[in-house]
Amino acid sequence: MTPVLKNKILTPHPHTIPMIKSIVPLLSGLLALTTVNAAEPDVTRHSGFRPGQPWADARGVHINAHGFCVVDFEGRHYWYGAHKIEGKTEDEKNEAGIRCYVSDDLVNWEDKGLVLSVFAPDAHRDLAEAFILDRPKVIYKQSTRTFIAYFKLYPPKERGGKSGKDYAWVGVATSATPTGPFDYKGYFLGNHNKYGTGDFAIHQDEDGAVYHVAVRKPDKALIYGRLSDDGLRPVGEYKVLEGVTGHTEAPAFFRRGGKVYLLGSGTSGWKPNPARMFVADRFAGPYKELPNPCRGVNPINKLGPEKTFGGQSTFVYQVAGRKDSWIAMFDINKPEDPVNAGYIWLPVEFEADQPVIRWRDQWDLSVFAEP
Ligand code: DGJ
Repeated sequence: MTPVLKNKILTPHPHTIPMIKSIVPLLSGLLALTTVNAAEPDVTRHSGFRPGQPWADARGVHINAHGFCVVDFEGRHYWYGAHKIEGKTEDEKNEAGIRCYVSDDLVNWEDKGLVLSVFAPDAHRDLAEAFILDRPKVIYKQSTRTFIAYFKLYPPKERGGKSGKDYAWVGVATSATPTGPFDYKGYFLGNHNKYGTGDFAIHQDEDGAVYHVAVRKPDKALIYGRLSDDGLRPVGEYKVLEGVTGHTEAPAFFRRGGKVYLLGSGTSGWKPNPARMFVADRFAGPYKELPNPCRGVNPINKLGPEKTFGGQSTFVYQVAGRKDSWIAMFDINKPEDPVNAGYIWLPVEFEADQPVIRWRDQWDLSVFAEP
């Protein structure tokens, strides 16, 4: 395992430091647009995953893509997440948009910058004014050859958002290429209701149908609604995902051996709680709750299954080219310092068909069987 260059991880690239020192906080979002010097050599190589440790991109800067997902396209991996603005807390307007990284091995990531930016000169008002732009989930829709990004888009207070009446939208943006730029296509309201929905997953079922599965506001039931063929809007009614206990959020689905699994969390704001796991014979349920899948303890914060190692689920990724291999992905939320929030990636094991997510200080893809 190549040791990560510690001083390179949590600090910005050296070329950006003078700029950071001189810039006023108001411009901190623009900093997000700063791309590193293309001539600068890569400084960081990793040979495996180190859950809970700072994760440097190829230039040595801690990856800034939270509430994320990973999408494969033409043999490469794309990590999309919310870019948190340095110096802002989660109580402030602190997201610059969706940041994308690309990798050939899932371990070493190259920064592709903001693929959707709230600071773009021509940014739509919904984006520019958004109080929250978080938890992006991207899919590739084969039928339209389009990448579609969905994201929590909470309007400012004047438009009913955070601390207004708590209205919550789902933003939608599309791109012909994985690295954007994504073109904003407006928002929809989960459950066709002005209060909308919170945390969500986008589930592509075996028949190609795409569903928005989300936490209904204000009662926090987990509901699902089918999206239109172009993936841009819900069609028809939303239904409750039967058997999923109330107040389950941070949902992430995966399929194995004819079963559908749902990993999620309880509801405790940014604080960790025990992970939840459900299984069903079909996506629409009914779901049955399984035991907490987590085992072991994260030695960095001494947290185990009772707090999901200090993390909260965001995505389950099926490893390309490996049989029956999934990686459970979590954020380690840091509401006071979100730009330095962390990540936990762990392999999903199965014990008698029950998913188990065991803590590992470090690991690599050799834990998965070759195809
Ligand atoms: C839990 C969600 O999963 C997070 O993404 C975030 O929205 C916090 N709640 C806010 O309290």
